[in-house]
Amino acid sequence: MEEKEISQAVIGRLPRYYRYLGDLKDQGIERISSQDLSTLMKVTASQIRQDFNNFGGFGQQGYGYNVEYLYEEISKILGLYQKHNLVLIGAGNLGQALANYVNFEKRGFLIRGIFDSNPALVGKEVRGIPIRAMEGLEAFVKENDIDIAVLTIPKTSAEEVAERLAGCGIKAIWNFAHVDLNVPEHIQVENVHLSDSLMKLSYNLNRYNKEKEQKE
Ligand code: NAI
Repeated sequence: MEEKEISQAVIGRLPRYYRYLGDLKDQGIERISSQDLSTLMKVTASQIRQDFNNFGGFGQQGYGYNVEYLYEEISKILGLYQKHNLVLIGAGNLGQALANYVNFEKRGFLIRGIFDSNPALVGKEVRGIPIRAMEGLEAFVKENDIDIAVLTIPKTSAEEVAERLAGCGIKAIWNFAHVDLNVPEHIQVENVHLSDSLMKLSYNLNRYNKEKEQKE
């Protein structure tokens, strides 16, 4: 497959294609036209074609898309064919909720260790994974071939912890703390802000209500 820079907007849409194709595959559906996929996903057929053209198309004229093939190719693009070892830092409400979610493992994201600075939590377990003291973080990351850290700690301590992670060779950070981290460029950071999504919902709700008012 030709390697070219793919826009973040396209990358952002791939997980959704991946989920839908996974469901189709589970239902035993072998192929789907871009029109049917478009109806199912409520995305225009031309958007789907444009997105898939970034990777050489995948489709065949008159045949549509081979579901299994497309699913596998998107999995390769997203790097889901390889397993990732994760540490989760901050075993509070959010950290424990994430650690309790089993489906990350099905996608190859394995939480190997959980860390917290609160001595009252150290030694407790979340889904069989012990919560460890922060002192052991660097050694654990190195010994367990950890490549991704999940940060579910307050923003006041996120920068300091990110520096420690950078120092022990972490390659990526899934950051839930509400702060933009200053880490070396080779470390990939994905910031997650659930409230952004909620604000988008609020905007759409507002817009809908206004349009309704105008019609009345
Ligand atoms: P929490 O207070 O329940 O948990 C935070 C945990 O981090 C505690 O167990 C605490 O002991 C630990 N901690 C604090 N400093 C630490 C350090 N330096 N090293 C290791 N562990 C440390 O808070 P909650 O509700 O779980 O939220 C965690 C963070 O995630 C907060 O910063 C919150 O603002 C953020 N958050 C972000 C969301 C998002 O969508 N990005 C959604 C919800 C929360």
